[in-house]
Amino acid sequence: MKKVILSVFVLSLAVLVSCGDKTKKDSTEAPKEEEVVKEEVVEVDPMQNKGIGPITSVTLAAEVDQELAKKGAEVYKQMCSACHKAEKRFVGPAPKGILERRSPEWVMNMILNPEVMVKEDPIAKALLAEYLSPMSNQNLTEDQARAVLEYFRTL
Ligand code: HEC
Repeated sequence: MKKVILSVFVLSLAVLVSCGDKTKKDSTEAPKEEEVVKEEVVEVDPMQNKGIGPITSVTLAAEVDQELAKKGAEVYKQMCSACHKAEKRFVGPAPKGILERRSPEWVMNMILNPEVMVKEDPIAKALLAEYLSPMSNQNLTEDQARAVLEYFRTL
């Protein structure tokens, strides 16, 4: 990844140098190149990625809501355990520790909108490339998906 960022940087430097003469009159062009580089670096942080779907903001309380987590465990057992095992790779990845690698919004959007996520979200696309079979939409309600998210916090 460092190599990619570095080569983007080197490339933009090259652009800057090659435009040097022409842009002397118009000094607004150079800073634009630098902005582009910064944006690409920010997008690489997975915890900043909220995914694509109905969920834009999730607040997690400091304490796990055990009642909600219990409901989530039931939904998970019925709708997800055919393809997921809590602590082991199966048809799909193990959800244990998922909130250390993904934002809560991303997780809920992956549950509620997997068809679009595996086509357009960079992390989900990489997962599909690795796991090969697509995650199917189990048509959970937002409340059910939220409960499953709470259950994931207990794993
Ligand atoms: C038909 C099998 C299948 C079912 C059923 C299924 N999943 Fe998945 N899931 C996958 C696969 C495969 C992936 C990896 C992405 C891909 O290949 O599309 C995945 C990815 C995920 C991810 C992202 C994991 C990560 O490490 O980022 C989450 C979260 C997830 N599934 C949650 C669920 C939940 C919750 C349910 C039940 C509502 C569910 N899945 C039902 C197959 C399934």
